[in-house]
Amino acid sequence: MKKAIYAGSFDPVTLGHLDIIRRAAKLFDCLVVAVLENPNKKSLFTVEERKCHLELATKELENVEVASFRGLLAEFAKEIGATVAVRGLRNTMDFTTEYQMYLINRKLGKEIETVFLAADEEHLSLSSTNVKEVAVFGGNIDFMVPAEIKPFIIEKYQK
Ligand code: PNS
Repeated sequence: MKKAIYAGSFDPVTLGHLDIIRRAAKLFDCLVVAVLENPNKKSLFTVEERKCHLELATKELENVEVASFRGLLAEFAKEIGATVAVRGLRNTMDFTTEYQMYLINRKLGKEIETVFLAADEEHLSLSSTNVKEVAVFGGNIDFMVPAEIKPFIIEKYQK
């Protein structure tokens, strides 16, 4: 069974992430979407909230599981038996950072292969940072996030 991991912060999950998840789920038998628990990074949503959002957004995808991890992606991938790390690419800036990450992950776990999926043109401007930037001022985020996640984001900024 070919198991892949798609790791990220997902703070919050965007339509760009969801597109990569849907497409990767078609390529592998099982896709684990893994939220990084990073105590050094200030986040809008807790890890549990982000896992819950991902579960909601991927509920119709039968071979997708949601998890969280601490530490190294390569170690977690080994722990769960994933041999492929999926990453999305939007532009050359992504490519530069992602290629470096790929080289490091390769040193840390030779058995993990990285597969890059190019973002759909509709999602080139999307990022979790941009979602927060718009949402904080009450702007329209319909084209940025899955519909079922939108209320959680709006609620966060109403508090
Ligand atoms: O959503 P993001 O912020 O682009 O995700 C980045 C992520 C979580 C995939 C990356 O930071 C990661 O894998 N962190 C775990 C630590 C690690 O393994 N680092 C080695 C590569 S530099």
